[in-house]
Amino acid sequence: MMSPTAATIRLTLHVLAATIWVGGQFTLAGLLPVLRKYEGSAKLAARAFNSIAWPAFGVLVVTGMWNLVAVDVTAQSNRYQVTVFIKIAVAIAAGAAAAAHIAARSKLALALGGAIGAIASVAAVFLGVLLHTGS
Ligand code: HEM
Repeated sequence: MMSPTAATIRLTLHVLAATIWVGGQFTLAGLLPVLRKYEGSAKLAARAFNSIAWPAFGVLVVTGMWNLVAVDVTAQSNRYQVTVFIKIAVAIAAGAAAAAHIAARSKLALALGGAIGAIASVAAVFLGVLLHTGS
């Protein structure tokens, strides 16, 4: 059996937090049609999800910064640095859109915030894996 390294812990925490933040959004969206049959349940479920989603987002930011230090982003290629820059911008957009979704007062703002948040979150996953596998 291989031995875990600091990178194992760092990436496990980062990916675990991503599974909660990204996977949770899709799971909640999948449950909504059923939840909507029971008055008020969708809002209660969304609030319950928020109570684990935002701490997970916090872990993403903290382990994301740990990633930057660990990979020594200043020593990486220009293409890697550009990819990291885009990934951080996309991650910020994901958080901002999710926050706008929660604060929304109109159906349009609710739908746009939710959709942009989900798309940006999936893009952050893709860019994260790209950092590891791209050329
Ligand atoms: C919505 C937010 C985010 C998601 C969903 C996300 C997701 C991911 C995923 C899936 C990986 C690939 C891990 C692997 O291949 O083992 C990754 C890697 C990475 N992430 Fe994130 N991430 C997010 C936010 C951030 C933030 C805010 C930063 C920087 C402050 C960041 C910096 C990095 C770095 C540098 C890597 C490469 C790590 C390495 O190669 O060792 N991430 N991310």
